[in-house]
Amino acid sequence: MKFKISKTKQEVALNFSRYLAILIANREEVHIALSGGSTPKIVFDELAANFQEDIDWTHVHLYWGDERCVEPTDNQSNYKMTVEHLISKIDIPQDNIHRIKGENEPEYEAKRYSDVLDENLPKSGDLPQFDLVILGMGDDGHTASIFPHEIELWNSDKSCEVAEHPDSGQKRITITGQVINNAETVVFLVTGDNKAEKYTEIKNETGDFRKYPASLVKPTSKRVLWFLDEAAAGLT
Ligand code: 6PG
Repeated sequence: MKFKISKTKQEVALNFSRYLAILIANREEVHIALSGGSTPKIVFDELAANFQEDIDWTHVHLYWGDERCVEPTDNQSNYKMTVEHLISKIDIPQDNIHRIKGENEPEYEAKRYSDVLDENLPKSGDLPQFDLVILGMGDDGHTASIFPHEIELWNSDKSCEVAEHPDSGQKRITITGQVINNAETVVFLVTGDNKAEKYTEIKNETGDFRKYPASLVKPTSKRVLWFLDEAAAGLT
């Protein structure tokens, strides 16, 4: 478990953007699963504002690690957020955008998106393999849209499952542990002091860490990088 601690959220965004630019430059074709949430939004703004010359998006394929079951025009849509903060501001072929269709019937979409991953991603051990999966972590220790109350979804033998938000009951489509842990690299983007408790438990394997889906992220490649601000790292 490697981590890069920055003073502020903005510095996290800058450091991760630099990391991403190098990763993309070193590959012919790159398949990346994006996350929703507030930290990725800051990263997308940084990439759009300051990395236009550093990243050639024409050979990058964008996917999502999870999506809310809402219309793509809904303000809760991770896809909509990504279009507003990144996709609308970069030169990336429309065919390279592989969104989860939140407007579809959830069980149907979970199956459809599993097929999208099978058809578009390289394989490793018969499973789709992302070059990079970007994850956030909720203050309850959830990641993607696998929440503690449904932690069994992590071990699904499907690549995508239908999840449910514990408070709102909102249906979500999420990739599962078999896909996340098959990635070449997993990056967590975690900021804010409300994450410090869970991050510290996961890092030290103490307390109830086993109950947090984020603690199950252990890719076969062993490449997990945490980009954190000092607040999330518990240093403030
Ligand atoms: C989502 C995200 C979710 C997010 C965490 C952390 O759809 O909301 O995929 O898993 O990463 O809730 O969100 P913040 O980065 O806003 O704390």
